[in-house]
Amino acid sequence: DMNFLNINEFSNDEIKQMILLAHKFRNGKQIKFKKQMYAANLFFENSTRTHTSFEMAQRKLGIQTFNINPQTSSMKKGESLSDTIKTLQAIGMDCLVIRHKLTGWYQELSKDSNINISLVNAGDGSGQHPSQSLLDLVTIDDEFHKFAGLSIGIIGDLVHSRVARSDAEILQRLGANVYFAGPKAWYPKDFDKFGTYVTIDEIIDKLDVVMMLRVQLERLNHELVSKFTNQNYFEDYGLTKQRAAKMKKKAIIMHPAPVNRDVEIASQLVESSNSRIFRQMNNGVYARMAILTTVLNKYLEDK
Ligand code: CP
Repeated sequence: DMNFLNINEFSNDEIKQMILLAHKFRNGKQIKFKKQMYAANLFFENSTRTHTSFEMAQRKLGIQTFNINPQTSSMKKGESLSDTIKTLQAIGMDCLVIRHKLTGWYQELSKDSNINISLVNAGDGSGQHPSQSLLDLVTIDDEFHKFAGLSIGIIGDLVHSRVARSDAEILQRLGANVYFAGPKAWYPKDFDKFGTYVTIDEIIDKLDVVMMLRVQLERLNHELVSKFTNQNYFEDYGLTKQRAAKMKKKAIIMHPAPVNRDVEIASQLVESSNSRIFRQMNNGVYARMAILTTVLNKYLEDK
């Protein structure tokens, strides 16, 4: 069955189709499946947006949804992820949405011929966050109706960010000029292949999209945490009001959230007129409806 594991495995045309489908769902598009569909959500890492918006998307599509709590499941007795997936398949699930701290949790599983239900990656460690990438693309497309030629800055804790990794690659492929800023120590050298490392101050006035990232203190080692201060980070790398004042008039502010207010972005900017942060969350429901109907396409009544 079709999976959605890494947005970069899809062609530009397929991605544009999914963006279009998300827009259609936002405008009220209805679909019907040939049979009752069942999906289960397994979140091994915390989530508010991704989990709830996948569930909202499932409910809006008429998919019966199950939320499996890994903490109270038999994985606590040592059952593997692979056996858990096969168990949920045997019980009758058509689709599993999984967030796991292991980068690439799906690599082996997607090759297992005994698994023939759709797997959707809701975030893997510091790997990919493909449903976030799609909702980010929908949000940028809403605003600019194109990607080619846009200047997009992805700013902050790049090394820990699966959002940065999945967004940078697809944005570059769609023709955007991608820039990275933030602490040099948090800049993964392999990002050179997706864009250009700059400072926030040399790029802020040239960007169409200012995408700020959450500082992921939970993924930092103890030595770095002990040296870290919110105030220093905000002054050196954050989107302060002074920096925001230099942005182009039509530039937008994005952030995958959760937001550390006054750490990576000034609190007042979160709800400012240029901010699309809550719009991103709203688009997340429609992007996930598009993802679920794409992977379950063979069960659709009229295509
Ligand atoms: N943006 C995002 O993935 O948020 P959650 O961790 O709350 O799902």
